[in-house]
Order: sequence, then structure tokens, then C-alpha cells
Amino acid sequence: MFSMRKILPGSLAALALASTTLAADNSTVEYGRYLVENLGGCSDCHTPTLENGQPDKTHLLKGAMLVFQPIHPIPHWKAASPDITPTGPKWEKWGETGFVKFLETAAWPDGDKADPPMPAFHLNAHDARAIVAYLKTLK
Ligand code: HEC
Repeated sequence: MFSMRKILPGSLAALALASTTLAADNSTVEYGRYLVENLGGCSDCHTPTLENGQPDKTHLLKGAMLVFQPIHPIPHWKAASPDITPTGPKWEKWGETGFVKFLETAAWPDGDKADPPMPAFHLNAHDARAIVAYLKTLK
């Protein structure tokens, strides 16, 4: 698609770029949703569970009491997970860039890390950005 830009004159090129950018945004969000729902297991811990055991989709990734605990004590184990949508506390502090860094390095920009059972993700930039793009769509 970038080679197309080279051969298109001015305004046409801008139009082509604008439409590819939009398409990329959409597919980035969808890819992020795919990673969150099918690979990251984020909802297992970050979405509250209804009495019937199903995830409460009206509170997707809004933080939850965990439904499991370790058989042996694990230091710093957290019994609850925070809201990781844009209404969560860390968004205000670190914003989008901070979230991407956290998913790439398992640490916030100040070096702070999450306690267990939050997995220490070391995602590539592409995947981290896609997840954050998806999280941003959750209100
Ligand atoms: C096995 C359970 C589990 C899974 C799976 C999980 N998390 Fe977590 N996550 C937690 C817990 C518990 C914390 C709180 C850790 C703490 O307080 O230090 C946490 C913390 C976080 C935080 C820090 C938020 C804050 O306010 O401190 C982010 C961001 C996060 N998780 C994102 C994700 C994403 C994105 C996924 C999926 C790709 C995911 N988590 C999967 C349990 C989990």
C-alpha cells in the first residue's frame, strides 16, 4: 500500500492513505479484541462472574474478585483484579503509552510491576498496541 502512495499524485495519495489508516485502525481494534478474548485470558481475571458462572459482559474487564486462589501460599497474591478499561486508575496516571509499555515489559514506566496472578506479559509492540486500542473502546 505504501508503494501505491509513491505512484499516486498529491490529493489522491492523501485519500488513499486516509482510507488505509481507517481500515488499519478497525482491524487493529479487532485484532486486540481477538488477543484479549482468545489468548490473553484477560477476562478470566478482570471481568466479574455472574452467579451462573458466566462472565458479566456488562462489566467487561472492569475488575473483579478472582474466582480462584493458589493451593500453596504465593507471596503478594492479589485476591482481586483492577479495572483495565479507560475508567481504571492506571489510565489517568500512565495513559495509552504507559499501558503499551506495561504489556511489552511487564512494568510501568516507573518500573513498578503487577503482583500475581497477573501474568508478566512480554508482548511485541504490534500486539501490545492492538490490545490497548481495543481496551480504549471499552467504556
Ligand atoms: C490470572 C489472572 C489474570 C489474567 C489472565 C490477566 N490479569 Fe491483569 N491483573 C490481574 C491481577 C490480580 C492484577 C492486579 C495486580 C496488582 O494489583 O499488582 C492485574 C493487573 C493488571 C494491570 C494493572 C492495572 C492496574 O491498575 O494496576 C493491567 C494493565 C492488566 N492486569 C492487564 C491485563 C491484560 C491486558 C490481560 C490479558 C492480556 C490480563 N491483565 C490478564 C490478574 C490477571
